[in-house]
Amino acid sequence: MFSISLHWEALTQAVRRDGLAALGRPGQIRDAASAKLLITSGNFIAYEDTTIVPSLVQVAGGVVLELGPGPGNQIHRYDTSFVERIYGIEPNPQFKDAIDASLDKHGLRDRYTLIACGVEDSDVLRAAGITEGSLDAVLCI
Ligand SMILES: C[S@@+](CC[C@H](N)C(=O)[O-])C[C@H]1O[C@@H](n2cnc3c(N)ncnc32)[C@H](O)[C@@H]1O
Repeated sequence: MFSISLHWEALTQAVRRDGLAALGRPGQIRDAASAKLLITSGNFIAYEDTTIVPSLVQVAGGVVLELGPGPGNQIHRYDTSFVERIYGIEPNPQFKDAIDASLDKHGLRDRYTLIACGVEDSDVLRAAGITEGSLDAVLCI
C-alpha cells in the first residue's frame, strides 16, 4: 500500500506539472516513486549499522564501482583515506541531489563520478574509462 501511495503521489505531481503528457512517461513516474521510497525511509541506514555492511564498505578502496548507489546511503561509510575514485552507476536520475548533498557533507565530491546508466550499459561505462582491469573493487549493497 505504501508503494501504491507513492506511485499515486508521483503520478498526480507529474500530471500537475506536465499535463496528460506525463502519462506517456511511466518510467519517470516509477523513478520518482522509488526514489522517494528510498530517500524517505531513513530506517535502512540504522538497520544496516547493525549488520556487516559498514565494515564491508570501509574496506572498499582504490578505484571503486558502486553499483546502484540510490540516495547515497553508503557514502558516509567509505574510508576516504583508501578511496582514489568512485564511479556511482545509477540509472534513476532522481537520486542526484541526495547523492550530491552526501558527497559534499562527507568530502567526496571531487572523487565521486555519478554516471546515469545501468551497469549493463557497457558502452557508457567504457566511455567513462571503466574497462577490464580498471577497477579495484565493486560495491553492491
Ligand atoms: C535497493 S536500492 C540500493 C541503494 C543503495 N545501494 C543502498 O545501499 O541504499 C537498488 C538501486 O539499484 C539501482 N539499479 C537498478 N537497476 C540498476 C542497473 N541495471 N544498474 C545499476 N543500478 C541499478 C536502483 O535505481 C536503486 O537505486
